[in-house]
Amino acid sequence: MRHIISLKEQSKEDILKMLDMAIKLKEKRNKGEMKSYLPQKTMIMFFEKSSTRTRLSFEAGMTELGGHAIFLDKRTSQFSKTDFGHEIQAVMRYADILMYRAKKAENVEKAASFDAVPVIDACSEKYHPAQALSDILTMAEHADGIENVKKIVWLGIENNVSNTLKLACAKLGIEVVLAAPEVDPDSVDEDLDKQAEDTGNVKKILDLEEALEDADYVHTDTWINMEFFNDDGSVKDSFKDEYDRRIDTFKPYQLNAEIIDKYAPEAKIMHCMPCHLGYEISRDAVEHDNSVIFDQAENRMHMQKAMILWQLGIEKV
Ligand code: CP
Repeated sequence: MRHIISLKEQSKEDILKMLDMAIKLKEKRNKGEMKSYLPQKTMIMFFEKSSTRTRLSFEAGMTELGGHAIFLDKRTSQFSKTDFGHEIQAVMRYADILMYRAKKAENVEKAASFDAVPVIDACSEKYHPAQALSDILTMAEHADGIENVKKIVWLGIENNVSNTLKLACAKLGIEVVLAAPEVDPDSVDEDLDKQAEDTGNVKKILDLEEALEDADYVHTDTWINMEFFNDDGSVKDSFKDEYDRRIDTFKPYQLNAEIIDKYAPEAKIMHCMPCHLGYEISRDAVEHDNSVIFDQAENRMHMQKAMILWQLGIEKV
């Protein structure tokens, strides 16, 4: 069964297959040539955390494929009252495919272990494969082919999003430079790191000028935690020290217009969103001529349509 959890399970050929399908699906959609590939098929979208893009892009994608998507919120269902393994097995009896935004990747792996339906990790603390594959599509589009993407740079903190992006790019032969002074401890997967590093395509460089030289794409993601703040935007007293420590550690790696214009004027600017303006990224970077951030958001839908079809065994579009 084709689960998509960490991208450790997918080969270079699998990634290229889904990329090819996503490009064709998007082209056909833009020409008004949509086809119902999945009549009477249901995706269950199970969320333990909030979302804008993941929910909308998967749901709209299933609609466009001629199937149906059901939103299931952990807080308004019975999961808190019973055994997770039992409840998720019942859920999958209604589904042809399960998309799961989980607090813990181990629960996505547990759902997949039943091999009832294909499962997608839709952002856990360790992985975000749908984001990584969608970002491959965005980079391929803006470079006129993924083979023209030679180098990406990740700024800030290594985390769930960088894990899957690093692995996907490394498998495709793209140089990945991590300009990140820390790793989110919850995101660590040593097997994933080994798979990525064994390709020989991953480097850690903390000097910004050196890291950004000849970059094609520069990515970042949040290193600030929303639980640090009061409702009025002030920092809670209990988090003040950690807030100050993170500003000191990560702010030098902020993705902003100044560093792009100075060190990598040809590089495209990427962020999976939501953007925390003034922290990991500045407004002048989001709105820079080099920004492809809104294409990234749109491409979630096109790539995820390809992922869903591939997982359900449809490879010709
Ligand atoms: N990038 C991303 O996954 O966005 P959401 O958290 O809004 O789904």
